[in-house]
Amino acid sequence: MAVLEKLTSQQAIDLENKYGAHNYHPLPVVLNKGEGVYVWDVEGKKYYDFLSAYSAVNQGHCHPKIVGAMVNQAQTLTLTSRAFYNDKLGEYEKFVSEFFGFDKLLPMNTGAEAVETALKICRKWAYEKKGIPENEAQIIVCENNFHGRTTTIISFSNDPVARKNFGPYTAGFIKIEYDNLEALEQALESNKNVAGFLVEPIQGEAGVYVPSEDYLSKAKALCEKYGVLFIADEVQTGIARTGRLLATCGNCSCSDKNCSNEPEVKPDILILGKALSGGAYPVSAVLANDPIMEVIRPGNHGSTFGGNPVAAAVAIAALEVVRDEKLAENAFELGELFRSELNKYIENSSIVNLVRGKGLLNAIVINDSEESETAWNICVALKENGLLAKPTHGNIIRFAPPLVMNKEQLLECVSIITKTLQEFE
Ligand SMILES: Cc1ncc(COP(=O)(O)O)c(C=O)c1O
Repeated sequence: MAVLEKLTSQQAIDLENKYGAHNYHPLPVVLNKGEGVYVWDVEGKKYYDFLSAYSAVNQGHCHPKIVGAMVNQAQTLTLTSRAFYNDKLGEYEKFVSEFFGFDKLLPMNTGAEAVETALKICRKWAYEKKGIPENEAQIIVCENNFHGRTTTIISFSNDPVARKNFGPYTAGFIKIEYDNLEALEQALESNKNVAGFLVEPIQGEAGVYVPSEDYLSKAKALCEKYGVLFIADEVQTGIARTGRLLATCGNCSCSDKNCSNEPEVKPDILILGKALSGGAYPVSAVLANDPIMEVIRPGNHGSTFGGNPVAAAVAIAALEVVRDEKLAENAFELGELFRSELNKYIENSSIVNLVRGKGLLNAIVINDSEESETAWNICVALKENGLLAKPTHGNIIRFAPPLVMNKEQLLECVSIITKTLQEFE
């Protein structure tokens, strides 16, 4: 069989199984086209995408403005490396820094790289600005975190599947319970060498755990009290996903009317990825103000592709789409509607315990054990009924559609979901 022939789903799956490392367990569906909130499989069946590539495709599949910017730039100049300047990077850095209200940006490609970058900046700041003795810096992280897959990042994961047999692990991390301010204060108090606190504003991969309303603002206040950096990993929650431009939404330039309803938290270091490019291209970034970012000097950190002209053009277009199409506002309104519709169903359900989330980052908890197959089987049935979603862990299914969805589409999705759940009651 020539590889260029049009493949059936089974043939494509067989090829991946034979020639690809088995580092994922995908739902058995093979996609070859996407547009807005929809994707199509190779047999031509149409689905609602309710995962958005783990919240990377917030702006919808193949958004013409983003694709247009990418094609245009790709035909002009793709990569210079940072050995030379290019005419896009500065424009991009200015645009994004002003968009989120920071002095400077450090460009990377993937979320995990951006997290690594933030950790390095935090450590260097600790030694050069805070005066922590060399090699003694500690960074506080939360249990059940997900920040990516590098050896350092999995060193402070408590997911055995992500960690086991990848040691020896990187030292310098203190793990505390998520959404527990006492634990945070105790860790800060009992260790004078804490440099930073790394936190997800909502724990996405862990199962969309939304912390208490004042957790982030009080955690930030504690960080200020003890002189440590508050590092927000908004790789998944950022770029309008949770109904605000950022889940922390501190001092940003968005016109988001929901900002005033919740305490603002301005991170010292902000980590972005995924939807920074609308899913068109790997683009990530770390933002901070000068007193922090200035610790990075030539040779300290870098990436051949980080800050390339295509990434810069794509990310500017992706953020313009978020702003111009009011995606934060749409995610806020549709999120409220989604949870209220599902709550109506849950009142009389024996298979779903609850729905939780913010904006269009939501999850349902299935009334079965973590080890059961029920959530997976529901996702397979959802696929049969035209909607793609995936369990996060065990008995939790995440629902995160593109933010360009409209109300009619959302209500159709709710009816697909409730009809499917009924098959399991
Ligand atoms: C909060 C968070 N941080 C970091 C990452 C890692 O991003 P990437 O897969 O692009 O390395 C993810 C990915 O899901 C994430 O959800």
